[in-house]
Amino acid sequence: MEIRPVDLADDALMAQLHGVSERALRLGRPDAPVWSLADFLGAMRSPDSGERSYLLAARLPGDPDRVVGWGVLYLFLLDNLEKAYLEVQVDPAHARRGVGTALVGELERLAVEEGRTLLLTDTKLPADEQESHGYRRFLERLGYSFSNVEVVRHAPLPVPDADLDAWAAQAARKAGGYEVRTLVNEVPPELAASLGELMGLLAVDAPTGAVDFEAETMTPERLDERLAASRAMGRDLYETVALAPDGTVAAQSTLSVPTDGTTTAWQWGTFVHREHRGRSLGLAVKTANLRAVQADHPELRRVTTQNAETNEWMIAINELMGFRPVEVSAEFLKHA
Ligand SMILES: CC(C)(COP(=O)(O)OP(=O)(O)OC[C@H]1O[C@@H](n2cnc3c(N)ncnc32)[C@H](O)[C@@H]1OP(=O)(O)O)[C@@H](O)C(=O)NCCC(=O)NCCS
Repeated sequence: MEIRPVDLADDALMAQLHGVSERALRLGRPDAPVWSLADFLGAMRSPDSGERSYLLAARLPGDPDRVVGWGVLYLFLLDNLEKAYLEVQVDPAHARRGVGTALVGELERLAVEEGRTLLLTDTKLPADEQESHGYRRFLERLGYSFSNVEVVRHAPLPVPDADLDAWAAQAARKAGGYEVRTLVNEVPPELAASLGELMGLLAVDAPTGAVDFEAETMTPERLDERLAASRAMGRDLYETVALAPDGTVAAQSTLSVPTDGTTTAWQWGTFVHREHRGRSLGLAVKTANLRAVQADHPELRRVTTQNAETNEWMIAINELMGFRPVEVSAEFLKHA
C-alpha cells in the first residue's frame, strides 16, 4: 500500500477524497448529514493559526490513480500541546484490507514525531451497537480505549413561530438584564476578546469523559479565520450572543447554515459562562439564533447537534426544542 501526503490544491485528488468520505460516512446511515464538496474544500483549505494538519491518501499497488482511503491529523498549536486528533475514512469497496490500519499507523507516527502523547479520535455508531460495532473493534484493536460518548440529535425544521415565542418567553422570565444579539457572518471587534475567551472555555466545562482539555486559545485572528473558513465552505454563520450589562459576552450559540439549497443546518457550540448560568441564557440564545436562521432560510428541514450524554442541562434545552436522538458519536483515546 502506498500512503502519501495530499496536495490540497489538487482539485481532482481532493474530489476523490471527498467521494471516499461520502461513501464511508453514509454506509449504514444513508440520511446522515455529510459535508458537501464545497464544505470539504473550504474546511481543508482554510488556514487556522491555532492548528496544523497533515492529510494523507492511501492507494493500492496496481491502481496508482485511485484513492481508497485517507486520513487527517490535527495538531493544536496554542494549547493542548500534548494532544493530536486523527480521523481515517476508507472506501467501503476497499474495506477490511488493512487500509485503515495503515493510515492510522502513519498518522500516529507523525503525531509522535511532533511530540504528541495523547491521540484522540471518534466515530459515529448506532446507539444500540456502541459496545460491539466494527468501527469500535477497529479502534480497540489498534490500542484505543473508549473515552466518552456524545448523543447526536436532530430536530425537524421549521419550528412554528408559536413555539419560538413560547421558548423566548420562558427564557425571558430569568434572562432579563442581558441583551441578546444575533451576528451573521461577523464578529464586531468590541466583542471578539470576550467571545473568544468564552468559546475557549467550552472544552474545559463541557463533559468530555476521560480526556481533560485546557482552555482553547481563540484569538480575534482565529475568529476571523473561522468566519473565512465558513465563507469558503459556502455557509452562513449565525452567532447569537447574550451580553451582560458590562458588555461582555455571557453566552453564545452558533448555527452553520449551507447556502447551496441543502436542507440541514449544523448546530455548533452553545455555551453559557460559569458566572452567568441558571438564567436561561442557553435557551435564550438558541431560540433567537434559530429564529434568525429560519427567517433567512425557509428551505431548511432539520438541524443536527451532539452533546455528551452527561450534559443534562444542554440536553434538557435540546429536548424542549424538539431534538431527538439518532445515533452516538463515540470518542476514543490512546497514549502514544
Ligand atoms: C473504521 C475504518 C477506518 C476501517 O477501515 P478498514 O481499512 O476497513 O480497516 P482494516 O482493514 O485496517 O481493519 C483492521 C481490523 O479492524 C477490525 N474491523 C475493521 N472494520 C470492521 C468492521 N466493519 N467490522 C468488524 N471489524 C472491523 C477487524 O478486526 C479488522 O481486521 P480483519 O479484517 O482482519 O478482521 C472504516 O470502516 C471507515 O472508514 N469507517 C468510517 C469512519 C470511521 O469510523 N473511522 C474510524 C475513526 S478514525
